[in-house]
Amino acid sequence: MDTFVCKVCGYASFREAPEKCPVCGAAKQAFQLMPDVIKKPIDPNNLNDLEKKHIPVVKISKVCGLVGPGCIDAHIKIGEVMHVMEAKHFIMYVDVYHDYNFLCRVHLTPEKINPVISLHLKVVSGKLLALENCNVHGRWIAEVDL
Ligand SMILES: [Fe+2]
Repeated sequence: MDTFVCKVCGYASFREAPEKCPVCGAAKQAFQLMPDVIKKPIDPNNLNDLEKKHIPVVKISKVCGLVGPGCIDAHIKIGEVMHVMEAKHFIMYVDVYHDYNFLCRVHLTPEKINPVISLHLKVVSGKLLALENCNVHGRWIAEVDL
């Protein structure tokens, strides 16, 4: 699938460039087609150490203890082996999509938080996609069915 990246904020849009970047508001002209911007595991069934630290792990909970019925929880952890969060090497943000449409960006800072986010979803079916951006190793993605 074609991937267009906003040169201003790094947001990745699938299929086509949007009229306006949903993260920073940049115009369509700021987007550049970058087919290889998202890293892929060499062998998805046998991840190497780098892949284990970068490919998001997504856990879906159909029962939400906070909102109640109709809410689905998505817990996204960066890395089966959790990625470090140090000033020189950390996860800058996680972008989440539903059926390839943007839902939100969560910015992270190093030192005081783990590279883990949780979202409460109103959608109950379709695909959830998590894209993380490591300041050293770039973008990695995971996709799960709700
Ligand atoms: Fe990294």
